Amino acid sequence: MMAGGSGSAAAGGPAPHIPVLGAPALQFLNVRDGGVYIDGTFGAGGYSRAILDAANARVIGIDRDQTAIALGFDLVEQAQGRLTLVEDRFSNLDAVARDCGCESVDGIVLDVGVSSMQLDTPERGFSFRFDGPLDMRMGGEGPSAADVVNTAGERDLANIIFILGEERFSRQIARAIVKARGEARIETTRALADIVSSVVRTKPGDIHPATRTFQALRIFVNDELGELASALIAAEHVLRPGGRLVVVSFHSLEDRIVKTFLASRAETRGGSRHAPEVQRAAPSFTVLTKRPVIADEDEIARNPRARSAKLRAGERTDAPAHRADAADLLPRLPSLADILRGR
Ligand SMILES: C[S@@+](CC[C@H](N)C(=O)[O-])C[C@H]1O[C@@H](n2cnc3c(N)ncnc32)[C@H](O)[C@@H]1O
Repeated sequence: MMAGGSGSAAAGGPAPHIPVLGAPALQFLNVRDGGVYIDGTFGAGGYSRAILDAANARVIGIDRDQTAIALGFDLVEQAQGRLTLVEDRFSNLDAVARDCGCESVDGIVLDVGVSSMQLDTPERGFSFRFDGPLDMRMGGEGPSAADVVNTAGERDLANIIFILGEERFSRQIARAIVKARGEARIETTRALADIVSSVVRTKPGDIHPATRTFQALRIFVNDELGELASALIAAEHVLRPGGRLVVVSFHSLEDRIVKTFLASRAETRGGSRHAPEVQRAAPSFTVLTKRPVIADEDEIARNPRARSAKLRAGERTDAPAHRADAADLLPRLPSLADILRGR
């Protein structure tokens, strides 16, 4: 995510945004002259700009949002051949790197989640703060939040809202949604926010009652956890020895995926005192952050969204990538296809 700020004259132009945890992310990325770096969540280009500023390096910027890519063309021009922008999902980052002529890269940074630009555009339907179509698709393709809300079974809806939103009123919300859509299809952010607000009890000072439900739907519609798990595995394949992986996340489930992935790749021994030693693949990463790096008070004061940000980083070893299945890193939820079939 991004905070407003004047920024430095980066890559020949003014930097309109400072990314959350930008300074530690850059430090862990260890940017060097001649290196190739993937910014998997280009957004408003905060990280890309900082990398281009830090060294005579090349950046491949990826974003699934066409608008973010289009707005990045000025930076492409300023970078004079050092920045390539690609509209794609970061789960494909290994293939994107190869298409850009790079068999391996020196660093990958992911700043996962939604951008301020997306949240603040009512027509994108991410926010209950504005009325707009209930869309929430970062990439503009596939089923929208309205499709999910109007099709999913009550139990699936409750599970999605409970697991991805960590919302304790999930069952009441699901019941209210199913009742409301029996009368008329739920098409707008305001309509959904009103339905949720009618059943979620809050105290003064609490966050908006619809916050967790909107977060859950956004994560589900964009398969954000699946994307992250696949991207970590792709990163393991495309980082060269000594290459760095840096992930900034804003949700406890995302942080758990990154933590579990890095811990499993850095593990040297299996078994326990009572069980025999298990033969393990050699560690493919060294963990650089024993605990996640979090924003300091200054950064939180400048940008309250930084409060929930957690940064984890690892360095690739020269061992082969482990055999992997992204599903091992994910909570069990129905697929979007199942939901739309009205299972
Ligand atoms: C938090 S913003 C990144 C902000 C960026 N670091 C900056 O400094 O401006 C997240 C961006 O990642 C993009 N994004 C989220 N999930 C993605 C995915 N799976 N593949 C590609 N881009 C993704 C979103 O469209 C959004 O533009």
